[in-house]
Amino acid sequence: MANDPTAKTLAELGAADAAAVVRLFGEVHEQFVRETSIAPDLQSWEELRNAWLGRKSGALTRITENWLKTASPALRPTVGKCLNELRAQVEARLGELQQAIEAGAEASAMARDRVDLSLPGVQRPVGSRHLIRQTFADIERIFLSLGFTVVEGNEIETPYYNFEALNIPEHHPARDTMDTFYLETPPGAPQWLLRTHTSPMQVHTMQAKQPPVRIIVPGKVYRRDNPDATHSYMFHQVEGLAVDTDITFCDFKGTVEYFVREFLGPKVKTRLRPSYFPFTEPSVEVDATCVFCGGKGCNVCKQSGWIELFGAGMVDPAVYGFVHYDAKKFSGFAFGLGVERLTQLKYNINDLQLYFQNDVRFLRQFA
Ligand code: FA5
Repeated sequence: MANDPTAKTLAELGAADAAAVVRLFGEVHEQFVRETSIAPDLQSWEELRNAWLGRKSGALTRITENWLKTASPALRPTVGKCLNELRAQVEARLGELQQAIEAGAEASAMARDRVDLSLPGVQRPVGSRHLIRQTFADIERIFLSLGFTVVEGNEIETPYYNFEALNIPEHHPARDTMDTFYLETPPGAPQWLLRTHTSPMQVHTMQAKQPPVRIIVPGKVYRRDNPDATHSYMFHQVEGLAVDTDITFCDFKGTVEYFVREFLGPKVKTRLRPSYFPFTEPSVEVDATCVFCGGKGCNVCKQSGWIELFGAGMVDPAVYGFVHYDAKKFSGFAFGLGVERLTQLKYNINDLQLYFQNDVRFLRQFA
């Protein structure tokens, strides 16, 4: 306080009688009222309290030292009374302000912490099944309804199960096109590879169980193919195998046609085209009328009206030799569905790489 009267004695201030003393106290009180007229925050409230009530340097301590202790005996009662009144006023006002500050802090904390139940909740994005998984589920549903069961196999296989036991000997030309990723093994140790198709599970299943066999095998397979719009080095297949005492080509054809109709819709027609696989005889490619042009001919089907769906055939009796089935007694059929390709046809997807890029803009369309 500039020209702070409390820093001087009453004599220095020229206060010689009681009226002058009362006037001086009035001025100090006014000063206090001015200083406390603006609602302080906690920090400035503490500064105010120190400035007025501080034991060492507060205004009231100075008044005690400079006015009361130096007052003449005649003035001392007046100074004492006024000082007590001033102290009561200062303490009361500072108390009020402290309460207001505490109430304000509590109110703002309450406002901050208040839960507004009318606000919308936090929406966490919910994932969905990948399109390839949806196709797996579709395929499984159809074959389960025909009495097939679902089995899974290992992605790591020996060349024996991947090739030899499927009638693909070491120097068979079919092995070139299906060459794959081999695992590093110590020299002389048995070889392991990433399976190139789900067909090894035909052999595992027949080794483990006598007919009747009706299985499908969904799973990942690997090939040394360069990625492009229709190829990937990792893709998915669903193998199918049915072996029993009286399975004919008609059963095979009926099953395949039923599957294609269920999967692609009732309007789609199928045809079987001669093909070659070392483990089926006869072997066929199953074609469907083009889903894009309905069989009239378009760019996708190269104007032929037909689209190749998957390879299949009657199990080659030579395979029964590897699993000790009696080829005279048992017969059956097998097929190998390329899941990415079937999904492309069903959902009109022009690039197989889209499945594996994890772009949610693509995936969300099939959620
Ligand atoms: C086979 O893999 C046979 N095991 C199928 C089979 C099983 C025939 C049982 C007879 C009896 P293929 O090599 O054609 O056949 O492959 C089957 C399907 O896998 C193809 O029709 C195609 O849809 C898919 N496919 C093949 N290579 C790739 C690749 N690199 N990327 C994505 N899909 C592929």
